[in-house]
Amino acid sequence: MADKKAWLSFSDREDKIELAVHSGTVGPDAVDIAGLYRDAGVFTYDPGFLSTASCSSAITYIDGDKGILRYRGYPIEQLAAESTFLEVSYLLMYGELPTREQLDDYVCKITHHTMINESLLRFFEGFHYDAHPMAMMVGVVGSLSGFYHDSIDMNDPQHRELAAHRLVAKMPTIAAAAYKHNVGERVMYPRNDLSYVGNFLQMMFGRPCEAYCVDPLAERALDLLFILHADHEQNASTSSVRLVGSSGANPFACIAAGVASLWGPAHGGANEAVLRMLEEIGDASQIDKYLDKAKDKDDPFRLMGFGHRVYKNYDPRARIIREVCLQVLEKLADSNNPLFELARRLEERALHDEYFLERGLYPNVDFYSGIIYRALGIPESMFTVMFAIARTAGWVSHWMEMWDDPKHRIGRPRQLYVGADRRDYVPLEERRD
Ligand code: ACO
Repeated sequence: MADKKAWLSFSDREDKIELAVHSGTVGPDAVDIAGLYRDAGVFTYDPGFLSTASCSSAITYIDGDKGILRYRGYPIEQLAAESTFLEVSYLLMYGELPTREQLDDYVCKITHHTMINESLLRFFEGFHYDAHPMAMMVGVVGSLSGFYHDSIDMNDPQHRELAAHRLVAKMPTIAAAAYKHNVGERVMYPRNDLSYVGNFLQMMFGRPCEAYCVDPLAERALDLLFILHADHEQNASTSSVRLVGSSGANPFACIAAGVASLWGPAHGGANEAVLRMLEEIGDASQIDKYLDKAKDKDDPFRLMGFGHRVYKNYDPRARIIREVCLQVLEKLADSNNPLFELARRLEERALHDEYFLERGLYPNVDFYSGIIYRALGIPESMFTVMFAIARTAGWVSHWMEMWDDPKHRIGRPRQLYVGADRRDYVPLEERRD
């Protein structure tokens, strides 16, 4: 893979270190520094991984400057228009679009793994009635490890595949059970006659006392949101899954780590934060005030749903979501939705503002998704959970890819130590302020 070379020289040394440069299919080359400490006795320093490729991957490609996102080579726009979430999850996991037979088989497997053990259901009773659903997700997903001993031999590819199927299948069931716990309703069991998303909607909004009819518009809108959130290469949560998995931890523990990482407001928690922000802004007359706050370095306020580590252009997912948002709101006779109007005005103002333009800050995937979720009746506390359901497809695919790589090893970053040098212990009675 290494056909180019780079040389590293130091101001205080004569010698030069030769480094291999790897080229991917598309995208920037990567300088191979794996042997740098061995050859030159130095580490590289890159907090936040601004320029560091932590692995090679064939799953997702992003060009943040051009606003390109592809899963296994297929443009996100085509998948959003033509595919379904389960087909996309197959594509991410196995690398190719399935034939009709393969897809039917996959859908059947996922559908038949949606139930969770009754004992696991009782875990929810231990949570406070108003526990955040992401808190329940982190705990319950991790606890799956205690139920599926037949799929945690990481050296067995069939175990890995079975665990991946279980995770994709059970996430909506766990998510809906967390919601039911919050609202004090009985958990609805999965129904095998419904689609992945239709089943999730019935587990969320169905009640034992009446039949639940899936609204095809809600089903399609949510399926599309799941496609758009399914993977995004080495983001914080996916990297967490890989890092935890690199130690040989079981997949349920790895995905629980992904859920925990996703929860943060700088990552998946942003969709919840966007709605809170729009409500705080209140109406268009306040936009300038909040843009000033976002630009003020002494003010911690940031425009939520704006900016991205990789996209310095319009996030292609945000563009699609904005369109769907309009369709959903129109069909649900809610086209005068004040939050959507406010979001559009805010976006327009920010995109004409030097501060945002100079820094390449555009709406990201989360800017409009919360408005659609709310129109579908999904409460704010469940927004990040929606993201977690979808991203599980990406997490398990990366985790499987890592295990398929014969060169994979435990992830163990190094550090630039800036603490105290060696010093001697001082007995307590001799210490002074
Ligand atoms: N509002 C105001 N200013 C911002 C914003 C924002 N949303 N985002 C970045 N900036 C500014 C920073 O202050 C910084 O300015 P400076 O160069 O003058 O110091 C510059 O833009 C670069 O920002 P960084 O924080 O260095 O960018 P980074 O890549 O580390 O952060 C992040 C990306 C976390 C997404 C950031 O843009 C942010 O906090 N956005 C809001 C939260 C959000 O929407 N997160 C969801 C991301 S998408 C996802 O995870 C699904």
